[in-house]
Amino acid sequence: MTASIRRWALALLLAGCCNALAHAQPAPKNATGQEWWRHAIFYEVYPRSFADSNSDGIGDLNGIAAKLDYLHDLGVDAIWITPCFPSPQVDFGYDVSDYVNIDPMYGTLDDFDRLVSEARKRNIRVILDFVVNHTSDQHAWFLDSKSSKTAAYRDWYVWHDAKGPNRPPNNWLSTFGSPAWKYDPATKQYYYHYFYPEQPDLNWRNPAVEKAMFDATRFWYKRGVAGFRLDAVDTLYEDPQLRDDPVLPGKDKFGRPKLDEKYNKKLPELHLALQRLRTVADEYDAVLIGETWTNDVKELEEYYGNNGNELQLPMDLQLTKLTFSAKSFREHIKAVDSARGWPTYVISNHDIPRSYTRYGDGVHSDDIAKMMAAFYLTLRGTPIMYYGEELGMQNNDPKSKEDVKDPIGVLGWPKEKGRDGERTPMQWSAGPNAGFSSAKPWLPVPESAKTHNVETETGNERSVLSFYKKVIHLRKTEPALIEGSYIPLNESDPNVLSYLRKSDKETILVVLNFSATPQTPRFDLAKLGFPSPKTEALLENAAGAPDGVLKSIKLDAYGVYAARISDAAAPHN
Ligand code: GLC
Repeated sequence: MTASIRRWALALLLAGCCNALAHAQPAPKNATGQEWWRHAIFYEVYPRSFADSNSDGIGDLNGIAAKLDYLHDLGVDAIWITPCFPSPQVDFGYDVSDYVNIDPMYGTLDDFDRLVSEARKRNIRVILDFVVNHTSDQHAWFLDSKSSKTAAYRDWYVWHDAKGPNRPPNNWLSTFGSPAWKYDPATKQYYYHYFYPEQPDLNWRNPAVEKAMFDATRFWYKRGVAGFRLDAVDTLYEDPQLRDDPVLPGKDKFGRPKLDEKYNKKLPELHLALQRLRTVADEYDAVLIGETWTNDVKELEEYYGNNGNELQLPMDLQLTKLTFSAKSFREHIKAVDSARGWPTYVISNHDIPRSYTRYGDGVHSDDIAKMMAAFYLTLRGTPIMYYGEELGMQNNDPKSKEDVKDPIGVLGWPKEKGRDGERTPMQWSAGPNAGFSSAKPWLPVPESAKTHNVETETGNERSVLSFYKKVIHLRKTEPALIEGSYIPLNESDPNVLSYLRKSDKETILVVLNFSATPQTPRFDLAKLGFPSPKTEALLENAAGAPDGVLKSIKLDAYGVYAARISDAAAPHN
């Protein structure tokens, strides 16, 4: 056992004791007792692509500030800005070289402070992205760590001897297509990187790392940040014995053997680190959102912590991987809704093809986008939107390898085209560069920007944007959508997903046709207290219900219908 492994083993033992203690603690309460994030609409802003104020083809903080009125009008309560810290931009900001500053390409700390204060005037909170798993290889910590085996920061990263001549310490693979270990000829050891080689993993078993990272969060909390989205939390810890991951049958998209990443992903120790990070967040009433790629609802539950003492909002990213059908969405939502913790729903982000493209069929794509909005924005839980989703922005994948900016697209072309397609400029108008910049944007806008943009859609009652605004408005004003329970209906219907949201003040029925053929679902709500249900339509798209007593609803392809339900026979109606 090397000295560093002995240290890890000891840390593991101590962590186990702390775990038992931590679970015995009451759930931490925040100072005001308010949980604003439960009823907030979060909106992810990819700063490179949102709005360019200085005409260099890249978005910036002043650009975001200039669009706050739009966000306010849309109904956004909090923006999550993906990393805007100094970075060599190998992974477009997810390789941070200084956690407590702003990259000059995005502006200055003063610009940031102004953005926070302008946002506050519009009741919009600012959430930053905290890249916890790794730094840039240009971060001062790593430059020192790499300088010698006895450097002060050596143990801030995961270094290890070769297993034999030209053999890395084990079989772990980087999720970005290369081996997970990079040899450093100067100090004759390998360092570990789950992502690009330019993103060395931090050694979270070293308490000095934890302290430095926690202090970075305090720096931003003191500047008015309302919380963090935690990047790549699944991979925070590695097995202290560096055991090989079991090899699974088949190959991954880079043609490498598939691994069961049990020794470098979701290690139990990470929950203790999250509990400690949460304690710091609670000092500032802040919210922690997790990039949690869970495989099932049980794993998702673990991220809330046994006492609700880890993440308030672990994202349900499984939702983005479901088969598009009423059945699979119904089953999944039922499980998440009844799990411990407040659901956090996401249908799109900067790492996966846009929802419009994923779900769209090229014929009814706008209707499908509206249906998905009616679906996830009327659920019990917090939604996190992705910029441009509200317009029906589509993926614009690079047409050739030469055009690719995201390094995984270069490595994996053509099977893996990278993530440029979902990161193209926000479409503000039908004008040049979709109104994003007066210079050539860093990524090209698609043809569809001519029709799917803020300016054009604002003037059109039937646009995707107008529909999003209606749903968001309902979500914020209807008590049943704010606090009501979720009651699935017609659970054996293969095509139509229906549910009630029911509070003590009102009941709302939501009906969604997940199929390309017209449907006429019937409802029997007698057992739910409505023997003769009367409807008051709140939202309709490609749908119609007879006036008076509800029996069935006619829905065209991907139609949406939502109504307040009361009982015709009840004396007070
Ligand atoms: C997260 C980010 C992704 C980034 C990766 C490495 O998955 O969302 O964009 O490449 O972490 O930081």
